[in-house]
Amino acid sequence: MFIKNNANYRNLVVGTDTKIPLCNGQKTTYINFDNAATTPPFESVIHSVTEFAPWYSSIHRGTGFKSQYSSEIYEKSRDVIRDFVKAGPNNQIIFVKNTSEAINKLSYRLYHKNKRDVILSTYMEHHSNDLPWRNKYNVHYIKVDDNGRLSMEDLEKKLRKYGKDLALVTVTGASNVTGYKNPVNDIAELVHKYDSKLMVDAAQLIGHSSIDMKPDGDSRHIDYLVFSAHKMYAPFGTGVLIGPEYDFKKGEPEYRGGGTINIVTHDLIRWAEPPHKEEAGTPNIMGVVALTEAINTLTSIGMDNLEAYESNLFEYALCNISKIPDIQLYCDNDLRDRVGIIPFNINGLPHQIVANALSAESGIAVRNGCFCSQPYVQKLMNISRNDIRKRIKNPSLSHPGMIRLSFGLYNNYDEIDVLLQKLYEISDNKERYLDARYQIPDTR
Ligand code: ALA
Repeated sequence: MFIKNNANYRNLVVGTDTKIPLCNGQKTTYINFDNAATTPPFESVIHSVTEFAPWYSSIHRGTGFKSQYSSEIYEKSRDVIRDFVKAGPNNQIIFVKNTSEAINKLSYRLYHKNKRDVILSTYMEHHSNDLPWRNKYNVHYIKVDDNGRLSMEDLEKKLRKYGKDLALVTVTGASNVTGYKNPVNDIAELVHKYDSKLMVDAAQLIGHSSIDMKPDGDSRHIDYLVFSAHKMYAPFGTGVLIGPEYDFKKGEPEYRGGGTINIVTHDLIRWAEPPHKEEAGTPNIMGVVALTEAINTLTSIGMDNLEAYESNLFEYALCNISKIPDIQLYCDNDLRDRVGIIPFNINGLPHQIVANALSAESGIAVRNGCFCSQPYVQKLMNISRNDIRKRIKNPSLSHPGMIRLSFGLYNNYDEIDVLLQKLYEISDNKERYLDARYQIPDTR
């Protein structure tokens, strides 16, 4: 049974009726199936930023009324975030720029703590949950199965193998390529059994599914969580790093500057307490106001309602796309444990051509390529090391990749029908599309 009416959700988001020019000079309503990259803002978020603007002032740096008011809003917002992901009271909520910055920060913070030097990452990570670890630790990758889902057997095998050398296990909550969700609380239980800790990259999960970090004493609790507000309808440059206070109490922050210290002389530094020690420079209160309002809006929708709607929409899209001739899907058809992402190609057509055609002829936005997850895409597409070597030697060779559809709560069935019709047309007319060149008239 498909829930067809999401008019209420659609009205929550800015820009759903924006008209954009097509290559034939006509205009059409933009269809955005690129929500895994970033989401448009909620109306409520824009309103909250505008409403807060007259009160805007410096955080923790002024005695004026507005400065005190802004500081209070900023500090209180940490509790809103704590409640949303059910983080325990001993966790610090640290504001950063985005998920990438949060993971980089944690990689410095945990560096050589207890002399453990192995990180277990996975084959299915975004580069942001892989590269920051590589220059500081020995990184090993938990395998995925033939469908690209995380192998719990390999996780346990590697936990057993690296045991006491493990600094951290770090997994994505949901893949930005296949949309597969990982059973993060089950993983946490296993990781704790082997006396290690778990970080979850929730960038692709936070806007689509509820997250339960659980209390510290619970064996299934998540030790560290990171995410970005721009993937949850609040694109104002804020991200969050959550982790146990003791990890941030000791040691030095990797960014130093205003707001991070208590006392400084030319030969001494006394750092401030966390989270302030970790938030160098003037904080992004506008971004924090936006994030807080996005959480309020998501909570009032109900994450379970939102997830049910997106899951129905995804099922409709996946069922119908898989019927199109020459479609190559890079994910399984198990509807459980996933967010609304579909990676595919049309056999016989380069991904770039299909993506260009969708945009130029139908106003449909997708992302194509490797989605900042090259090792995972190489695995899903069976790209050999030899192929990669050839491309390294000859950078002019076109990059392999796929097309990605990623849905948000405001997408609807009519938009999917427009997409399906266009994909049938492209698949039926490959010769024509191979030669297509587009010029979009500027009719704004
Ligand atoms: N990580 C974002 C994506 O998957 C940018 O597109």
